Amino acid sequence: MQSIKIGLLGFGTVGRGAYNVLRRNQQEITRRAGRGIEVAAIAVRSAERARATVGDEVPVVTDPSQVISRDDIDIVVELIGGYEPARTLVLEAINRGKHVVTANKAMLAKHGNEIFEAARARGVMVAFEAAVAGGIPIIKALREGLTANRIEWIAGIINGTSNFILSEMRARGLPFAAVLAEAQRLGYAEADPTFDIEGIDAAHKLALLSAIAFGVPINIDAAYTEGIAKLAAEDIRYAEQLGYRIKLLGITKRTATGIELRVHPTLVPIQRLLANVEGAMNAVLVKGDAVGVTLYYGKGAGAEPTASAVVADLVDVTRMHTADPENHVPHLAFQPDHMAELPWLPIDQTVTSYYFRMRVADQPGVLADITRILADGHISIDALFQREPSEGENQTDIIMLTHDAVERDVDAAVRRIEQLPTVLAPVIRIREEELG
Ligand code: NDP
Ligand code: HSE
Repeated sequence: MQSIKIGLLGFGTVGRGAYNVLRRNQQEITRRAGRGIEVAAIAVRSAERARATVGDEVPVVTDPSQVISRDDIDIVVELIGGYEPARTLVLEAINRGKHVVTANKAMLAKHGNEIFEAARARGVMVAFEAAVAGGIPIIKALREGLTANRIEWIAGIINGTSNFILSEMRARGLPFAAVLAEAQRLGYAEADPTFDIEGIDAAHKLALLSAIAFGVPINIDAAYTEGIAKLAAEDIRYAEQLGYRIKLLGITKRTATGIELRVHPTLVPIQRLLANVEGAMNAVLVKGDAVGVTLYYGKGAGAEPTASAVVADLVDVTRMHTADPENHVPHLAFQPDHMAELPWLPIDQTVTSYYFRMRVADQPGVLADITRILADGHISIDALFQREPSEGENQTDIIMLTHDAVERDVDAAVRRIEQLPTVLAPVIRIREEELG
């Protein structure tokens, strides 16, 4: 049978990775897909670098529409990134009846509902395994392997760059900026690295996971997002003393009152596997009512790990290429006419436990004032210690862990604590998850 022809839009870290994996594993891939998968055209911004890699073997152009409009191309692989022109190009490909493979979580988090509806109407597939957790087949696991389950929650390390930064800061004492530069050099970071360090990239991925897990439309606007840029090295140290690691987690949970969708630094008990996921590795925990908790672990970023997911999608689409559209796996796991409209829970209604660090005057009565305010707010203390002040120092840090509390009550208590004259700086607080 003739090879299926694909057009690559973008030939950067992931585009090159996909090209190399397709070439290197050509035979194995053909045996799996039932036919060869051939890169028939590449579009980039400036052609020289791509031409230096592919030579005369593949035409390289600078106008993506020249790739999309070719009748012999069956699958368009969007690896440009960002919202535009990616969205317009993907919609153009769908309108021309092409299947699409993409790694672009930003585009899908914002425009996924529109893109999947267009694909459904045209009877083509949009595959996006690489958009969440790089090489880990988490979309396939949720969409196919776990379909028997009512998913209860997902918690994951889904941004390799920020996990790499947190790991290097903790283990090697390296400064934030130096580690970020290294992540950029290694090709982990987004074109705009604030997406990584401010939790936005993780929120994009979480919004996709949440939709697939609960059968709801993608809603990035419902996500609460807090990154790692303001984390202090001393909190990483104190957390360690208390038996916790700080990880940037994406958490989505089905509760009685709505769906939680939140990304923030989180204290995780050291004995949990998730606390020991280091470097650019990703890991996702999924709790299903039948299977219990399952864990998916692997490289979350980088050229070939991400290419692994892109090529897996290419094989899937090739296998299904001639199938009737009604036999395609639904993009968001649930049949489009069976999607639910569940409420989204605002962050101030979230219930979780907390780590607090308070810089206070080292004098009698300070702790009593603080604990009284916490008790008034129904916030119960689980553990507490005070840093030994250095000689001559008249201030210190109080570090405490709380039991579960409603975020709204915590906000009110923290506001009152910060008004005490003996509390000398804004209270640092980090949410905690036991993940039991
Ligand atoms: P890069 O920045 O390395 O590559 C982007 C490519 O797109 C470049 O080849 C660039 O061309 C090309 N490009 C940019 N704008 C245009 C345009 N208007 N027309 C044609 N080509 C264009 O990005 P990555 O490979 O890192 O990322 C690609 C996608 O994969 C993104 O959506 C990213 O979020 C996602 N992703 C990335 C991962 C990673 O580890 N890097 C992991 C998982 C997902 P030129 O070469 O000429 O500049
Ligand atoms: N910038 C992303 C990360 C790439 O660091 O996880 C993978 O999606």
